[in-house]
Amino acid sequence: MFEKVQIAPPDPILGLTETFKADPNPDKINLSVGVYQDSSGRTPVLETVKEAEKRILEQEDSKGYLSMTGAPVYCAVVQELLFGAGHEIIDSKRAATAQCPGGTGALRVAGDYLHFVHPGAKIWLSNPTWANHNTIFGAAGLTCEQYAYRNPETNGLDFDAMCESIKTIPKGDVILLHGCCHNPTGIDPTPEQWAIIGDLLAKQEVLPLVDFAYQGLANGIEEDRTGLLELVKKVKQMLICSSFSKNFGLYRERTGALTIVADDAQQANTVMSQVKLRIRYNYSNPPSHGGQIVAVVLSDKELKAKWYKEVAGIRSRINEMRHLFVKTLKEKGVKQDFNSIIEQRGMFSFSGLTKEQVARLRDEYSIYIVGSGRINVAGMTPSNMDRLCEAIKAVV
Ligand code: LMR
Repeated sequence: MFEKVQIAPPDPILGLTETFKADPNPDKINLSVGVYQDSSGRTPVLETVKEAEKRILEQEDSKGYLSMTGAPVYCAVVQELLFGAGHEIIDSKRAATAQCPGGTGALRVAGDYLHFVHPGAKIWLSNPTWANHNTIFGAAGLTCEQYAYRNPETNGLDFDAMCESIKTIPKGDVILLHGCCHNPTGIDPTPEQWAIIGDLLAKQEVLPLVDFAYQGLANGIEEDRTGLLELVKKVKQMLICSSFSKNFGLYRERTGALTIVADDAQQANTVMSQVKLRIRYNYSNPPSHGGQIVAVVLSDKELKAKWYKEVAGIRSRINEMRHLFVKTLKEKGVKQDFNSIIEQRGMFSFSGLTKEQVARLRDEYSIYIVGSGRINVAGMTPSNMDRLCEAIKAVV
C-alpha cells in the first residue's frame, strides 16, 4: 500500500523551522515562522498565562468534553475582545461564537461551512496572503481567487487597485480580509479605507471573512479593532476567525474562535447549527486548556490590565526592531530602500529580498526567511541585528 507514496514537499513556513532546528550553526537566526521572541531570543510564557494556569489547576474539576462550540464563558470574552463590551452586536445576540483549535482550525471550519452551505461561493484572497490560506480553503473544496493588495513599487497598499478588484467580485462570493497586521506584508488599510471597503462590500453583497490573528500587535488591543468596527457599521453579516496564538503566546494550545455576525439572534443560531455539523466531523469539540486561560485572564480586571501591558511590551519590542533593522542597514551602507518596514505593523514585513537572496542567506549564513521574502521582525533581537544586516548587505 505505502510503496508508491511520494514524499510530500515541506511546508513553506513550518518546514523551514524544521530545517532551522536541524542547523548546527550556533549563530543561526529564524525569521520564518510567526512566533514572537523576546530580546534574548526566547518565546516566553506570559506572566498572566502562568497565573491563570495556577488557578485552573486548583479549580478545574472535570475533563469531560466541551460542547461542540466550546466553553460559553470563553465565547463571551472572545466577542468582548472583538467588538468591545456593550457593543450592539453583543447586546442583540446577533453574534454566535465557536471555540476552535487555533485560527487555522477556525478558518478550516469556516471553509467547510462555506463549501457545503453556500456551494458556488468563491473566496477572494489578497495578493499576497498567508501561504496557508490557499491550502486551507482549497482543502475545504473552495475556489480561491485573488484581489490586488500590495504595490511592489512602494511596498505599501495599492488601495485603488484593491477597490477596483473588489468591484469585480460577484455577489454571494466571500472576501478574506486581515483584521490588522496583514500577513505577510504588515500593510493595513487606514480607518477611512476600511470604511470605503465596507461600503463596497455592502454594495456588492460580498461576505467578509475577517482573519483576526494579531489583535494588539499593531497599535493596541482596542485600536486594532478599528477596521472590524468600520466594517460592521456597513455590513451586517460576516465571519470572523480569531486566534490567541500571538497576543497570548498560546501557540501550542491551539486557541481560536469562529464568530458569525448575522442579521439577528435567530439567524446567528441557524448559521451556527450548520457550523456545528462541520465541527463534529472535523474534531468533534475543541481542546479546553487555552480557552480556559483566556477566559480566566479576560474575566479578571487585574489580570486583564496586566495582559494589556504584556501585549504592549510585545508590540513595542517589535516596533523597536523595525526601527533598529532599517537604521542598521543604512549604517552598513545598504542602498536598497527598507524604510517602508518602519511604517508596517505586526510580526511581518516584505523585505523585497529575492528567492535567490533568501536561499543564500539560509545556505551561507544560517538565516531563515520565507521564500517570498517575508521576514518575521519578532525574530530580530539587538544581539542578532548586526550579523543579520551584515549578511543582507552581502547578498543584496
Ligand atoms: C505564520 O504565518 O508564520 C504563522 O501564522 C504560523 C503559521 O502557522 O504559519
